[in-house]
Amino acid sequence: MNSIVHSYAQLSLIVSRGAVFVVNFATLFFINCTVMVSFNNWVGVIDSGVGGLTILKQLQRDFPSCNFLYLADSAYCPYGTKLPSQILQRVQLLIQFMQGCSAQALVIACNTASVYADTLRQQFGMPIYDVIAPTCERVTQVTKSKRVALLATNATVASRAYQRKLKESGVATVAFPCSTFVPFVETNRGDTDECSEAVNKALANLAKCNVDAVILGCTHFPLLRKKIAPFTCGAEIVECCTHFQPTCFCNGETVGQTVFLTTGEEKQANHAAQWYGEVHFVHVDI
Ligand code: DGL
Repeated sequence: MNSIVHSYAQLSLIVSRGAVFVVNFATLFFINCTVMVSFNNWVGVIDSGVGGLTILKQLQRDFPSCNFLYLADSAYCPYGTKLPSQILQRVQLLIQFMQGCSAQALVIACNTASVYADTLRQQFGMPIYDVIAPTCERVTQVTKSKRVALLATNATVASRAYQRKLKESGVATVAFPCSTFVPFVETNRGDTDECSEAVNKALANLAKCNVDAVILGCTHFPLLRKKIAPFTCGAEIVECCTHFQPTCFCNGETVGQTVFLTTGEEKQANHAAQWYGEVHFVHVDI
């Protein structure tokens, strides 16, 4: 039974399936009715699916005392083939949800959503960290030829957010829309021949581009790194990153906790995230 009782007004979530998970004003969590954890200080991390776990891993490594609330919007995945207005509205909803859970800061672990980071920062009174600006900084330091390739979702490429930002630093971008890669990661089929065909088709011209750095401008793509690498002809592969800076709420000595939520099916999210390690997604209706 995966039924959910969910109410923003009461700021409460009650999730069945053996686990009882309550968020209230004091942000107390009861997990499996045996463990009670008090998370007063959350960092929300959002993505359209499991790709953002690549960013979460970096955050957990760098800030081990932080409590993270990871939200995979699997029911709405992929973002990269949707309209800008649809993506923005959806992300606004996710941020409202995070605010309802008393998140103190938000990491947009999704390039396609990071396109709207400035707009979202103006709308929401919480620190919001994106992945596009920091990744541009990283690649600018890597490239010597000042000519790089961008592999990203169709929507990220079409937004020209990367291209514009890199141009400010004198870096030219050759963009490859690669939304076809995303479902392979979401269904844990990255090692199939079908996935190889999709990569082959999308990146057939990459070798001719004469670039010295290739940006994996989608948080799902590091999971396909082995498939992508043969097309990069020795150019340096640059994965996305964020400039998240914890304030006083992450400075404790205790090891932080992470809770995983998905708007999709728990089973599918757990399956897709096998590479991540021990993870138990809990469904939430948003
Ligand atoms: N992982 C996301 C990104 O970094 C988007 C994947 C999708 O939903 O299309 O852009």
